[in-house]
Amino acid sequence: QAGVFTYDPGFTSTASCDSAITYIDGGEGVLLHRGYTIGDLAEKSHFLEVCFLLLYGELPTAAQMEKFEGLVTRHTMVHEQMLKFFTGFRRDAHPMAIMVGVVGAMSAFYHDSIDINDAHQREVATIRLIAKMPTIAAMAYKYTIGQPFVYPRNDLDYASNFLNMCFSVPAEKYEVNPILSRAMDRIFTLHADHEQNASTSTVRLASSSGANPFACIAAGIACLWGPAHGGANQACLEMLREIGTVDRIPEFIARAKDKNDPFRLMGFGHRVYKNFDPRAKVMKQSADEVLELLGIENNPTLQVAKELEKQALQDPYFADKKLFPNVDFYSGIILEAMGFPTSMFTPIFALSRTVGWISQWKEMIEDPAMKIGRPRQLYTGATERDYVNVEDRG
Ligand code: SDX
Repeated sequence: QAGVFTYDPGFTSTASCDSAITYIDGGEGVLLHRGYTIGDLAEKSHFLEVCFLLLYGELPTAAQMEKFEGLVTRHTMVHEQMLKFFTGFRRDAHPMAIMVGVVGAMSAFYHDSIDINDAHQREVATIRLIAKMPTIAAMAYKYTIGQPFVYPRNDLDYASNFLNMCFSVPAEKYEVNPILSRAMDRIFTLHADHEQNASTSTVRLASSSGANPFACIAAGIACLWGPAHGGANQACLEMLREIGTVDRIPEFIARAKDKNDPFRLMGFGHRVYKNFDPRAKVMKQSADEVLELLGIENNPTLQVAKELEKQALQDPYFADKKLFPNVDFYSGIILEAMGFPTSMFTPIFALSRTVGWISQWKEMIEDPAMKIGRPRQLYTGATERDYVNVEDRG
């Protein structure tokens, strides 16, 4: 039942929307996708299987998975004419600025043929978005570092393909490290969907007008970019680097508690979780595994993160306000170890969250009961008054 609450003056509004895709219990730190725990999915499943689950509601049979993976694989290239969109940006443009622009521009390549009320056409848009987002994110990265674009390869799995498009160069042979590929796939899964977060609500609201799905996803990317939301992974690693050593942690904890200081502990706190974000637990374990396998378990940033988490959780301020590490606290450490610059952290979040956005877009169109209500407001401005000519104003 969509949340309905009543303000004093008898004003009612739908507070949110119905959805059958993701369930969060913020008090208990529970996250389920179609009834499966995020811990089970991160450990036993893989990202494209999670995509199928979010989109269609059930885990796929082997035959269904093979068909779905084949469809996604065959749509990973972008229209050659889209390359021109990238060269219109300055080289130092943030990759998120490029992704907002290029994904919105996809409307011009596919909108004319997509009738969102036609189930097959929705499927076409869905597959294209999931398939092409890694390619677009990788192209945005390559463009900002002045390297040639690397085309997708059909012989690689989804995560390996993305790593290859980001890190291979024509000048030398590049082998995708299976440890990094598994960690990349798990990061995609951990970011896939998260109920009615700000960017998903943005996509739902944009979609409720019947707008083109590519334009709606571009709106979601724009919202995710904010440092309070998807931009927190970049802000968190930059914060950990600024702290630098464990002896400086008390200084930053004091700043985070000081109401006169706008500084917040990035990667800490959550609008819904008042317990550990279950994704953060998996991410922390993955960070340990990946850095150990890469032989950099003594990475100073990881040491600072672990000590910061320990000291913050022992501090009454954070305990009283139920502030725990969220999905963004450890993700940047893994991504940095993989070789990504901080500017690529949020594009990777956007790439992963595309399936959540498009699953909820699909759900809303296929079941009008799931439509998000038009938000209302509680008016606090001036009451009605007469116009005053400029010569009579004070
Ligand atoms: C994501 O919605 C989603 O599901 C988002 C997401 C997803 O998957 O889509 O989970 C991804 O966006 C995770 C959040 C990433 N953002 C950050 O890590 C940025 C740092 N966190 C904060 O900005 C903050 O915690 C928010 C924005 C996430 C939540 O802000 P709220 O709603 O104000 O948090 P709250 O109500 O729990 O805060 C309670 C108190 C407040 O102080 P008081 O007004 O009670 O005195 O705790 C304070 C807050 O000021 N507080 C913090 C803090 N977070 C909240 N104080 C210091 N450091 C922090 N990080």
